[in-house]
Amino acid sequence: MDNILFIDACARENSRTRVLAKYLLGKFDGNITTLNLYRLNLSPVDGDTVNRRDIALQNGDFDDPLFDLSKQFAAADIIVIAAPYWDMSFPSILKEYIENICVNGITFHYGTGGAVGDCKGRDLYYVTTAGGCIINKDYGYGYISDLSKNMLGINRAHYIAAENLDTVGADVSAILSKAKMDIDLRF
Ligand SMILES: Cc1cc2nc3c(=O)[nH]c(=O)nc-3n(C[C@H](O)[C@H](O)[C@H](O)COP(=O)(O)O)c2cc1C
Repeated sequence: MDNILFIDACARENSRTRVLAKYLLGKFDGNITTLNLYRLNLSPVDGDTVNRRDIALQNGDFDDPLFDLSKQFAAADIIVIAAPYWDMSFPSILKEYIENICVNGITFHYGTGGAVGDCKGRDLYYVTTAGGCIINKDYGYGYISDLSKNMLGINRAHYIAAENLDTVGADVSAILSKAKMDIDLRF
């Protein structure tokens, strides 16, 4: 049975992005672990954290709770990220999470040619919704997809989006229904 990690970077209680991501999650058969990033007390990786990591890395000691999120990410078979389109990208809490999981020796290591991914995951799904058009998906999905493939070793990334939800006269339920149909077509 697959180990599915749902990374919820949705700030709003009635988030449309979370609704769409949960619809996607209904397609999988496996154990789902949900991480609501806003409830994790995350903080950016600062100098002290980098030092703590470096010392642990030198000692080969990864039992520090500092590494729990990283180990959890590395062990997941399927990753689903729900992140609304904010300021042409995604909420900063998601970047804080990424800083916390990208640990040399857990999710990746350096080989002679650069970073080599060590995550078990085979598929990563990036789910987003936007008030208007997503001008350039490279600032959100593109970054996550490149990080997954080039640094974390997760080779298949998938993009699911619903756009124009906040435009004047938008038929929100029709837009979300269409996005759900797009999901249906993938399974
Ligand atoms: C802080 C913030 C920044 C946003 N930035 C953008 C943006 O740059 N472009 C856009 O089209 N919509 C933007 N929106 C609108 C959201 O993308 C849209 O409402 C989305 O559906 C929110 O997802 P949610 O329902 O999951 O919260 C922004 C909304 C917020 C609250």
